[in-house]
Amino acid sequence: MIIRKFDSREELDSYAAQYFIYIIQTKPTATLGLATGSTPIGIYEKMVERYRGGEVSFAQITTFNLDEYVGLQPQNEQSYAYFMNRHLFGHIDLPDNRAFLPNGMAADLAAECSRYDAMLAAQPIDVQLLGIGHNGHIGFNEPDRTLHGGTHVVELKRETLEANARFFASMDEVPKQAITMGVGSILKARTIMLVGKGADKADIMKQALTGPITTDCPASLLQTHANVLVLLDREAGRYV
Ligand code: PGA
Repeated sequence: MIIRKFDSREELDSYAAQYFIYIIQTKPTATLGLATGSTPIGIYEKMVERYRGGEVSFAQITTFNLDEYVGLQPQNEQSYAYFMNRHLFGHIDLPDNRAFLPNGMAADLAAECSRYDAMLAAQPIDVQLLGIGHNGHIGFNEPDRTLHGGTHVVELKRETLEANARFFASMDEVPKQAITMGVGSILKARTIMLVGKGADKADIMKQALTGPITTDCPASLLQTHANVLVLLDREAGRYV
């Protein structure tokens, strides 16, 4: 595990964007695993800037997002499909038919999970971008007695609903279920880039990176992966 700390978020975002751009320049058909949430927004902004500057083309890459809410249309402003269009896909030359998210509107959610896993198996992820939840979740893999390997439907924990309520008009509007890649699918990525920003992530980052490997903190399973790059701002990196 390589841990890098940055004095500013700006530097962190530039470094992460440069990392992805380097991957794409050296392998134009790369498969990227992408994430939503506040953590990656600045990284996507930098990638868009570099694209606008003519430094990189996304035309041949494939992307897989970690997760999506169940029951939200892609046009719904709270859906992760909408988020990705707003922050990245809408600004770059990535073809729509190679930008994948789980379909939270699928009539048969179990079949949708199998379909997603089959696509991931066919196009293994070169670099998976991850944020971390305050409870140690990665994607929507919440702390539990056991964890799932593959893509599955999850019931979101109360603390996650509360954390996400800020994006909705009220707590009642936050979907109670999501589809997420499993911890096993995440660990299959060749490289994992875990990003933490802000003082509120300092404790969980310490637990995830230096604590016991336990399903109580799904991010701690990243300690078993051979190729993890951890990028932290000063506040999130305070204890590691
Ligand atoms: P955040 O969420 O980037 O909005 O902090 C991360 C997560 O919950 O995985």
